[in-house]
Amino acid sequence: MIVSLIAAIPKNRAIGKDNQLIWDLPKDMKFFMDSTMGHNIIMGRKNYESIPEKYRPLRNRTNIIVTRNKNYKAENCFVTHSIKEAIAIAKKNNEKECFIIGGGEIYRQSLIDNLVDKMYITHIEASFEGDTFFPKVDWSKWKRKNIFSHKNDQENPYDFEVVSYEK
Ligand SMILES: NC(=O)c1ccc[n+]([C@@H]2O[C@H](COP(=O)([O-])OP(=O)(O)OC[C@H]3O[C@@H](n4cnc5c(N)ncnc54)[C@H](OP(=O)(O)O)[C@@H]3O)[C@@H](O)[C@H]2O)c1
Repeated sequence: MIVSLIAAIPKNRAIGKDNQLIWDLPKDMKFFMDSTMGHNIIMGRKNYESIPEKYRPLRNRTNIIVTRNKNYKAENCFVTHSIKEAIAIAKKNNEKECFIIGGGEIYRQSLIDNLVDKMYITHIEASFEGDTFFPKVDWSKWKRKNIFSHKNDQENPYDFEVVSYEK
């Protein structure tokens, strides 16, 4: 099984504010939905709770939530107490590619602990005010492959490019 991380990152690496996403880019959201569909997805408890109630658990995906709270319950989700345990659950579920979907704490720890084989990153050509940041990464240490790029339009107000990085 490979462990992938998927994130959208603006120029100043602010990825969230008040436990919400900061921007609305439907074309990138579709890329996220298509990429993760049918897979095991691993997320921090805060990220899970930031998903509007009517959309969670994210449909047609195995939702795995990481929390330190031993009493935490979320219907139709796996709840676990470390990122490594979450990855082990995905493996046990016969997953071929699981996705770490954030937020900031979970991204940071999974990169520090060297748990990530591949990243799908949407680089947004803008900066935002936020309170949660993607960690600094030396992208030159990863093999980069362009997936697609998008110029701003009426529904997607910022230019962005979607890139994969492999170890
Ligand atoms: N731009 C993007 O691509 C993107 C993607 C996802 C999320 N986001 C944004 O990111 C923000 C949320 O990120 P965040 O950093 O605040 O929170 P987070 O990473 O989603 O969740 C943090 C929580 O995860 C649990 N946790 C963290 N490390 C753990 C460990 N080692 N063992 C067990 N549990 C652990 C803890 O839960 P307990 O407190 O329950 O113990 C902690 O409070 C939101 O604004 C969201 O919109 C952005």
